[in-house]
Amino acid sequence: MNLQKNLNPALSLPVMPLPSGELDRLGFWQFADEAKEATEALADRRMAVIAELPVDALRQVCTQYRFFTIDYISDLSLLVAKLPFGGLRSLLGRILHEELGEGAADKAHPAIYDRFLASIGVTPEARERCLPANRAILSGLTSEMSRRGPAFGVGLRGMGGECLCQTYLSVLFEHLRKHPWIRANDASIDWEFWTIHTGEQDIIHGELTRQAIDDYIREDPDALPELAQGYERSITAWNHFWQNIFEASVSRASEVR
Ligand SMILES: [Fe+2]
Repeated sequence: MNLQKNLNPALSLPVMPLPSGELDRLGFWQFADEAKEATEALADRRMAVIAELPVDALRQVCTQYRFFTIDYISDLSLLVAKLPFGGLRSLLGRILHEELGEGAADKAHPAIYDRFLASIGVTPEARERCLPANRAILSGLTSEMSRRGPAFGVGLRGMGGECLCQTYLSVLFEHLRKHPWIRANDASIDWEFWTIHTGEQDIIHGELTRQAIDDYIREDPDALPELAQGYERSITAWNHFWQNIFEASVSRASEVR
């Protein structure tokens, strides 16, 4: 089977430019919905190869997502610090609290994810290896989050993290479970992270976040252009992040064959 062949047609980034002209609230949500659909379709095409990867390449793919979960938490704290008091700030504060394990360090989501990685055979040394290109993307997001105002940050991390991330994770989970090695070792794999992030809890988070962001835009319509810019930026960054992962892990796997 030619993994490279399977990879290439799937990798073009969806072109999701913001609609030109003045954007209103409904126009923005329409753009966001279309972006989510395009992301879902792209994720599905990309992830189809997962079930056929050698187990080492599969481990590398899963390891890279770890760095996203870690940086998401610190970016979310920056966003919570910047936002004005209100529903969105309180909701994102609650999500941050959950991400950090609600006071229990071993329940922090990166810790839960590390247990999943260990259960599929990722060693403590291997789990520290972030692709340099993805390190650059994550650092870029953090510096933009620091430099820009809260509305941009809401688009960049408030929406991107909750909406696009969940889409990719659900698709990844679906394909991951089809992998022969994963199927053979299902009983010994720690699935807690996936139970949290691909189930009802994450769908509820997404819906609550959307409502709180909608209220935020209603209260401050001037925030919309910046928010939309942040969201557009987040889509591009997120797609590049996964493109880098697949190029590094899947291409290498096809060269070895
Ligand atoms: Fe999480």
